[in-house]
Amino acid sequence: MIKINSNYSKLKASYLFSTIAKKVSEYQKNNPDKKIIKMGIGDVTLPLPPACVAAFSSAVEEMGKADTFRGYGPEQGYEFLRKAIADNDFKARGMDIEPDEIFVSDGAKSDSANIQELFAEDVRVAIQDPVYPVYLDTNVMAGRSGEPADGRYDNITYLPCVPQNNFLPDIPAETVDLIYLCYPNNPTGAVADKTYLKKWVDYARENKSIIIFDAAYEAFITDENIPHSIYEIEGAKEVAIEIRSFSKTAGFTGTRCAYTVVPKECIIKDENKTEYSLNAMWFRRQSTKFNGVSYPVQRAAEAVYSEEGKKQVKENIAYYLENARILREALEGLGYECTGGKNSPYIWINTGKDSWEFFDMLLDKAQIVCTPGSGFGKAGEGFVRFSAFNSRENVIEAADRLKRLLG
Ligand code: MLT
Repeated sequence: MIKINSNYSKLKASYLFSTIAKKVSEYQKNNPDKKIIKMGIGDVTLPLPPACVAAFSSAVEEMGKADTFRGYGPEQGYEFLRKAIADNDFKARGMDIEPDEIFVSDGAKSDSANIQELFAEDVRVAIQDPVYPVYLDTNVMAGRSGEPADGRYDNITYLPCVPQNNFLPDIPAETVDLIYLCYPNNPTGAVADKTYLKKWVDYARENKSIIIFDAAYEAFITDENIPHSIYEIEGAKEVAIEIRSFSKTAGFTGTRCAYTVVPKECIIKDENKTEYSLNAMWFRRQSTKFNGVSYPVQRAAEAVYSEEGKKQVKENIAYYLENARILREALEGLGYECTGGKNSPYIWINTGKDSWEFFDMLLDKAQIVCTPGSGFGKAGEGFVRFSAFNSRENVIEAADRLKRLLG
C-alpha cells in the first residue's frame, strides 16, 4: 500500500495567502455591492514597463518565424540575461558575481522553496519569526521540522523579529546550519545594515553554515547606507546564496521571472574532506527538474536593464513607495507603531489586538484586506501587514476608510 509523505500532515491546513483569498471571496459573495480594497498579498498593480512589453512582443514575433524560432533554452537561463544581471545588479555596485553564478528561474518562491533540497535532512534550520511562510513550509515538507507544538515546530530555530530588537534578531545560542534571512524584510518591512549582516556572514563562516538571503525587495531601498545584496559584505560569497525577483521590481508577478545567485566559492566539505560545490549541485538540480524560463520572458527581463527600462522601473517603485508613505502616515496619525513603508512596500503595524480579529474587523467594517501577522509566525501575533501595491486612488480611499474607522 502506498504511503504518503507524512510530513504534509504537520503543515497548517492551508497556505496563508490561500486562506485569506478564500475569506475575501466569501465576504465578497455575501456582500456583492461592497468595494473591497486588497492590501493583503503583495501583488503588483502597475502594468509591465513599456520597455519590457516591447522586448516581450518582439521576442514573441521571433518565436513565430522559422529562422528565429527557439526551442529549449539553457536551463540556467540565457547568457544575455545572466550577463545583464551580473553587470547591472552586481558589478556596477562593486560585487564580483559572474554570469555562471546566476540561475534564472520562474520565481523567488520556487527557488526559496527548492534550495533546501541541496542540504541533508538533519541540518538545523533557522528562520525569522514572523517569516515568509515558504521557507518554513518547505522544510516541514522535507522532514526537517520535527513535530508541531504550540504554533511552532520542535526542530526549527526561530529568530524572533520584534520591536525590542528592531526586527534584527540576534544570533541564536544553538548552532544552526541553514539560515534564512530576508531584507528588506517580508513581512515587517524592516531593513538591515552592513554591520548587522556582517554578524551573520562571520557566524556562517565560523560555523560552516549557509545563509539563504532573500533580496526580493531590494529595489525599494532608497537609503544609501542600506546594502542591496549580501555580497556587499566581505566573505559572503563563501557562505551565502541570494535570491532575487523581477516580480516586485518590474511587475513580473504574472509574467514569472527571478534569479538565484549561487557563488562558486560556496563549497561544503564533509567529514572526509570531500568538497561539494553548491553551484554545481544547483546546476545539476535545475537541469534535472527545470527547463528554464520562456525566451520572451527572459527578453522582457533583460529590458529591465535597458536605459528606458531602468527609468520606468524606478518610476514604478517610486509610485509604490509614495503609496506606502501615504498609508504609513495615516496609520501613524492614528497612533499605530509602524515599521516599513520606507525602503519597503510593506507596513507592519502593532494593532494591540489578535491579528485575525483585527483582519476580520477591517474586512467587515472598512472592506480593507490586510495580512494577519500571526499567519507569518507566532511572533507576528498582534500585528498586521499592509501592502502598498495598489492604485493611488485605492490607497487614498483606504487611508480615509482607516481614519473613519479607527480615528
Ligand atoms: C507576499 O505577499 O508576502 C508575497 O506576495 C508573497 C510572494 O511573493 O509569494
